[in-house]
Parts: sequence; C-alpha cells; structure tokens
Amino acid sequence: MAVAVVNIIYWLASLSFIVGLKQMSHPKTARKGNNFMFIGMMAAILVTIILPYQSLNGNLVWILGGVISGSLIGLKLAQKVQMTEMPQLVSLFNGFGGLGALVIAFIELSNFSIPIMGAGIRYFVLLMTLVVGSIAFSGSMGAFLKLHGKWKDKRSLSKKYLAHFFLLTCGILIFVMVLGELNNRLIISVLCISAGAYGIFFVGNIGGGDMPVVISFLNSITGISSALAGLIFDSQIMLISGILVGASGTVLTIIMCLAMNRSIKQVFLGGPISKSKKNSSEEIDKVVQEIGYSDLAMLLAFSKNVIIVPGYGMAVAKAQKVCKQIEDQIRSNHVDLKYAIHPVAGRMPGHMNVLLAEANVSYDKLMDLEEANEEFKNTDVALVIGANDVINPAATNSEDSPIYGMPVLRVWDAKNVIVLKRSLSTGYAGVENPLFNMENTKLLFGDAKDTLVKVCDELKSCI
Ligand code: TAP
Repeated sequence: MAVAVVNIIYWLASLSFIVGLKQMSHPKTARKGNNFMFIGMMAAILVTIILPYQSLNGNLVWILGGVISGSLIGLKLAQKVQMTEMPQLVSLFNGFGGLGALVIAFIELSNFSIPIMGAGIRYFVLLMTLVVGSIAFSGSMGAFLKLHGKWKDKRSLSKKYLAHFFLLTCGILIFVMVLGELNNRLIISVLCISAGAYGIFFVGNIGGGDMPVVISFLNSITGISSALAGLIFDSQIMLISGILVGASGTVLTIIMCLAMNRSIKQVFLGGPISKSKKNSSEEIDKVVQEIGYSDLAMLLAFSKNVIIVPGYGMAVAKAQKVCKQIEDQIRSNHVDLKYAIHPVAGRMPGHMNVLLAEANVSYDKLMDLEEANEEFKNTDVALVIGANDVINPAATNSEDSPIYGMPVLRVWDAKNVIVLKRSLSTGYAGVENPLFNMENTKLLFGDAKDTLVKVCDELKSCI
C-alpha cells in the first residue's frame, strides 16, 4: 500500500515536470509552470525522505542537514547572482548534478560484489553513470572557470590528444571491467579520474564564447547520468526527470547552434568564429555618424513606431528598467513601441526575455526574429541597445564573414537606426559591423543605462 502511494506521488511529480516545462515555453504561463514544478519536486523529495518502506538507518539528520544547507546556499547564490553571470551559475549547479550521479555510482560500485553472473547490464549502467557523472562534473567546473575568466582560452593539439586519450582509456576500462567482471576500488577510481580528465581537456579546448552551448550539452549529459542512476535504483522519477533534462538540453544545444549558424562539430572541434576574429577590422572605415541625447529624444518622441533591439550590452548596463521608462514616456505620445528579440541575443537562451520581464515589459510587445524582420521595413526608428552580432549585415551579404549565414535582425531596413554602445569595439563573435557605417545609422556612445537616463530626461522636456 505504502509503495503504491509513493509511486503515485512520483508519477504525479513526473507529470508536474512535463506540464511545468510546457508552461515554461510561454512567458504568460512560465511563472505558473515554475511553481508547478517546484511543488512536484518538493513532493518527490519529501516522499523519498520519508519513504515508509526504507529504513533510514539513522541517516535522517545527515539527509536533512544536506537538504537544508544545500537549499540555503542555493538560495543565497540565486539571490546574489547578476543576470550576466547566470551561465556560470547554471554551470555550477549542473556540475553538482553530475557530482551527485558520480557519488551514487561510486558508492554502489564499491558495494557491488562482482563477479555476479547476469549482472553485466546493471554493472555496465553503473559504470556509465560514473563516467557520465564525472565528465559532467569536471566539464561543468571547467566551463564555470572559463566563463568567470579564471581559465584562459587556449586551444592546443595536446589538449585535444589528451582528451582523446582519456576517452579511449574510459572505453577500454569499461570494456575490460564488464567482460572481465573486474571490480575493485582502484580500477573504479582510475575510471573516475580518466572520465574527469576527459571532461577537463574536452572543455579546455573549446572557445570561452561557445561555453553556453557546451553548458547546455553538459546539462543534457547530466540528465542522462541521472536517468541511468534511475535505472540502477528502479526509480521512475529519476528516470523520467533525467530523460526530460537530457532531451531538453539536447534540443537547446541544437537550437543555439542553429541560431548562431554554427554546427555542433564547429563548436566542439573549433570553428571559424575564433579562427578569423581579426578578419575584416582593417577594411572597415571607422568614420561613423553620431547623434546627441536631445536629438535622439526628439526622434523617438515624434516617430510613429519604434523597435528596440536589446543585446548583451543592455544586460551589462542593467538598462532594462530605463528602457521601460522610455517606452512609457513615448507611448504617452502615441508612439507604437515594440521589442525585437534575437534567439541568441545576450549570453544565454531567453536572456533578453527575462531581463525585459523583470522590467515589467509586456510579453505581447516582444517580437521574434521573423516577425521583427517583417516590421523593420515600416519602422521609423530601430533603437539598438548594446547589441552587435545579432544586427550585423555581414551575416547576410559578406560570404567571407565568420558569421555569414547566421540569421540576424535586419535593423538597417528601418528609416533610422540608432545604436547605443560605448565604443566601436566588436561583439562576442569578434567581427566588425558594417552597420555602423551605413547612411541611416547613427551612434550614441556611452554606457547604455547612463545614455538612456539622459534621453529620458530630454524626453520629459519634449513630450
Ligand atoms: P554582442 O555581439 O556580444 O555585442 C554586445 C555589445 O554590447 C558589444 O558590442 C559592446 O560594445 C556593447 N556593450 C557592452 N557593455 C555595454 C554597456 N555597458 N553599455 C552599452 N553597450 C555595451 O551581443 P549580442 O548582439 O547580444 O549578440 C550575442 C552574441 O553572443 C552572439 O554572437 C551570439 O552568437 C553569442 N552567444 C549567445 C548565446 C545565447 S544562447 N544567447 C550563447 C552563446 C553565444 P562596447 O564594448 O563598444 O560597448
């Protein structure tokens, strides 16, 4: 009876993850989806702790101690983290997920008395959990260090060969251990260290800019390691949630690659973005037209329609709230204002959506790439706030450009393009942007937030 109740709760929790994920795909229902999944997760955790048919062997204090201290640390980190540092935090959490799977597999393997006839599959699954968990842990920690600027970006053949060597070592060890029914702490430790070393050298050879894609990939393998752990323990909740994480991480990896026009192979083996960073810098004429605060305020106040294009620089400057103030001001002058969101604007999926939601921008004012590209033709002002690569015309017309083929926002179709940034430096991809030299483009140099605050003041006097 108790087992049936527990299984029903697990089943309901799994259902809440699926429904919650679906709800999170739309801004209107995202918060509800998050709460829904939180309740499901809490129910699953509670029922696991008080599992009536499992003796806790006096471990309750340890379990509760871990749950409470982990929750407090997680809460503190989530409260403190800046939006621009979110990928690092995701990477850290992801790494601990991998570490969890690794520890479970290590303990199970240490208690597992091989040779046991017929236990081959179970043994193989345990070894895979150990290996995948170890790769996810070390790889995520490496990604964290890179994103935090603590680990320099240097690709080398030696890292590549070492990564291959450790991966091969893992394969050979698993083969020998399963077929030879070998199991002792030393060989398990060697396998674990080899997998960890593979994770480090694999991530070490990937450009820091490609880290969000790698994190998404590592996230998916962490899900797979949890699903494997679910198989070991016959736990349907671990299996389902692991598969959900694994599948969504894989889909996200593919979406990010498509939106950057980078193949997964280019990301993992090194592609043209980093190779041709200095590509066209000498060829581009640095002469640009500038605009002042009051002229920009007048232009915005007396336009019919304006599209704001936010980018990574808006996140750095934390300019989203001033952006909303400008929206409110010019809307009172009957200006129609919308936002164009590129799928990889910023540094993580949905980065701009989250920032704008934080500033209470209505989600029905947000346009995706295709919709926005239709709208620019009939737009008076495209106001670019700290975006660069996602509005680079070279992606559409310069076959030599490293970002050629990447879908971009065609802001240059608008009557006026105003770009807010601090200098003429490049964006993430490291390529020059010919948009800045176009006839209908003007730049306003400075921190995006400072600039927008001044434009806000000017608007007060002209509306
Ligand atoms: P970027 O191309 O990185 O350009 C950001 C611009 O913001 C820079 O040119 C910078 O110029 C400006 N900026 C920085 N701080 C600023 C501040 N305080 N005030 C004003 N401007 C500031 O950004 P994007 O257009 O959003 O493109 C995103 C890039 O990241 C793409 O190449 C994309 O492929 C890549 N990427 C995205 C993701 C996801 S999932 N979003 C994942 C991996 C990679 P100044 O220094 O001159 O100010």
